[in-house]
Amino acid sequence: MTVYFIGAGPGDPELITVKGQRLIHRCPVIIYAGSLVPAAVLEGHSAQTVINSAELHLGQIIEAIKAAHELGQDVARVHSGDPSLYGAIGEQIRYLRELGIPFEIVPGVTAVAASAALLGCELTLPDIAQTVILTRFGDQSPMPEGEQLADLARHRSTLAIHLGVKHLERIVEQLRPHYGGDCPVAVVHRATWPDQDWVLDTLDGIVAQVQAKGFRRTALILVGRVLASDSFAESALYRASHAHLYRP
Ligand SMILES: C[S@@+](CC[C@H](N)C(=O)[O-])C[C@H]1O[C@@H](n2cnc3c(N)ncnc32)[C@H](O)[C@@H]1O
Repeated sequence: MTVYFIGAGPGDPELITVKGQRLIHRCPVIIYAGSLVPAAVLEGHSAQTVINSAELHLGQIIEAIKAAHELGQDVARVHSGDPSLYGAIGEQIRYLRELGIPFEIVPGVTAVAASAALLGCELTLPDIAQTVILTRFGDQSPMPEGEQLADLARHRSTLAIHLGVKHLERIVEQLRPHYGGDCPVAVVHRATWPDQDWVLDTLDGIVAQVQAKGFRRTALILVGRVLASDSFAESALYRASHAHLYRP
């Protein structure tokens, strides 16, 4: 018996891995994060038990896993995007280790990847930004020391802020001194869902745009000059004069 933490991807049911889908189809127990994982991702399953973990607390989730373990039933534990990011799998894994229940993680397509795809952009452009910081807005759970937005913004790298759209005004205030008011920012709402939408503006203009759209949750904030830049150097990788192992 194994618990499979499966990344469901950002919403579009075709953006789950083949392995993740195969496991969902064959596991007798499915526990899925119903707040962000669409029911369509579970289509074709043959499970006897399907539980929406959005309605449960941690203790109840562990009880459901223990019950499956006692029956020798594999569990598909389905999380949105990639389970390693803001999925709260760490605390589940800690219990599983204590209980001696085997687990495996199947990665997924992140909201960051889906949003970049939607915007048609590369998040790491030569000379502009070679670092992407994935973070979240610390409202409910505080951020660790040194990880305030202002600390991260100092690097002026590409920034992907999760769980923050409700606090966009405060976020902009903290970023503007470091990135400048003319820095491009995109807010992507429900990327890859049928009702996906986004706005691309500057730090100075984004709040009004997002208010007009009415985005309140399930939106990713992407910040950085990579979002609207045509003047960057070409990479060494494909430069004709650059020789390497595959192109001596
Ligand atoms: C609890 S986190 C889960 C992140 C997920 N594990 C991942 O790898 O993308 C939820 C936040 O991720 C972002 N998010 C998740 N799915 C999204 C989507 N389809 N479009 C835009 N943002 C999304 C939003 O910021 C949302 O508040």
